[in-house]
Amino acid sequence: MGKVVAGVAIVCAAAACAAAAVVVSSRMRVRSQRRHARNVLQEFQEACSTPLPRLRQVVDAMAVEMHAGLVSEGGSRLKMLPTFVDRLPHGDEKGLYYAVDLGGTNFRVLRVQLGGKQGRVIKQEYEEVAIPPELMIGSSDELFDFIAKELSSFVAREGDGFRPVAGQSREIGFTFSFPVQQTALNSGTLLNWTKGFKVVDAIGQDVVAALQTCIQKRGHEMRIAALVNDTVGTLAGGRYWNEDVMIAVILGTGTNAAYVERAQAISKCGNVLPKSGQMVINMEWGNFWSSHLPRTQADEALDNETINPGEQGFEKMISGMYLGDVVRRVLLKMAQEAALFGPNVPRKMLEAFSLGTPDMSKMHADESSDLKVVGNVLRDVYGIENTSLAVRKIVYEVCDTVAERGARLAAAGIVGILKKIGRDGTHSKWKVASEQNHVNGCEEVGSPVASECGKTVVAMDGGLYERYSKFRAYMQVAVVELLGDASKDVVVELSKDGSGIGAALLAASVSQNGRK
Ligand code: BGC
Repeated sequence: MGKVVAGVAIVCAAAACAAAAVVVSSRMRVRSQRRHARNVLQEFQEACSTPLPRLRQVVDAMAVEMHAGLVSEGGSRLKMLPTFVDRLPHGDEKGLYYAVDLGGTNFRVLRVQLGGKQGRVIKQEYEEVAIPPELMIGSSDELFDFIAKELSSFVAREGDGFRPVAGQSREIGFTFSFPVQQTALNSGTLLNWTKGFKVVDAIGQDVVAALQTCIQKRGHEMRIAALVNDTVGTLAGGRYWNEDVMIAVILGTGTNAAYVERAQAISKCGNVLPKSGQMVINMEWGNFWSSHLPRTQADEALDNETINPGEQGFEKMISGMYLGDVVRRVLLKMAQEAALFGPNVPRKMLEAFSLGTPDMSKMHADESSDLKVVGNVLRDVYGIENTSLAVRKIVYEVCDTVAERGARLAAAGIVGILKKIGRDGTHSKWKVASEQNHVNGCEEVGSPVASECGKTVVAMDGGLYERYSKFRAYMQVAVVELLGDASKDVVVELSKDGSGIGAALLAASVSQNGRK
């Protein structure tokens, strides 16, 4: 009997030891996996880093590429597209104008009754609909007919308070947020698609003619008076309220910037220069590229899997369509190489774009001590249950790294434009411009006259900038870091939904109705 008891005791002890060994070894495995994940994180952080000297190189590269893109067609990856907008709204525009706005996942129509300097925006209404995904990769006829149909039903609901000028057809500003080579304010051919659109037969087409035809087919007497990029619309909308607005930047699904350039600097336009001496340039900065950009393996892999590989390199590092996917790719690497989320890689994590930037932003905004929101998003999006705090911290840091890099690069882009137009504070000597020869109101000269250029306002729009507060904060910090003292003369501010109304304002300023 005694022997049996002793035997049982030995077996139990051995089992306990084995169990303990299993626990210890599993803990060690988890620790070593965690260490591996941390190494992946560290490597990624180093590859993404944007210390000040590197950012300055990006600033310089942006300014240099801007010059090159203005000198000759194809001189730079920056298209630097002339927009034929040589006058921005002043406030005296009057009448009823429409705008249609195609550029991202949503499509918008709006109408606005302008009341001149006194009345300004008397009344406005808009409607927004999601673009059916099949139209983003369908045919040109289908896409433009969809726009015409939405516009038509919106016009049919025009109510009280909107008065078209007697005897005039309704005029439209068409915000089309893709690269277009304009030949006039109201015509231009599509160069290429971005942001997941791929309507192949529209490339090379005049997008104004295409939409105008569809509108007419529906029996409407409406005329597209202005074709504008969303950045140009934002610039126009911003300038309507504040005459210091010189630059507009969109940080949304895609990204881009437009600014007011001295006509003489646009050498590729030859002699066809506007009398006003200025023209708005649509930079198409999403396609900017420089060897100074901190590109990682995750960026390369992402680029290869997009429908426009090799294009929009800057956009793929900083805009809302892509940030979430960069995060996903890093998490996937951690899942595959370090079993960060358990022995199995969550299936859905293998799917491109399964983590949206809004989810990333939600996790990044998590201030709770146990990073509860991070845990919830991982559960809801990928079905990963019961993540430890250590795992959540790693995920949080990946979001932080990707957002910080994107925001700092966007800041460098903005400062690059300021540098190009001589408003980054590095031009110590200024004099007020003469009528004929000026750089956006000021001229850099060797003379000792140092006078004030006043404030330079950068009008910002786009969901990423508006809704991702940590991104916005990182960007502001980097602008100040780069500009130093000169940052007191630069205001970067949200100009919400300016692009549609800006297009309507530009339509107004070219139409007879809108002119005084
Ligand atoms: C387009 C630009 C547009 C920007 C923001 C980019 O993908 O190429 O034309 O301004 O997105 O919408």
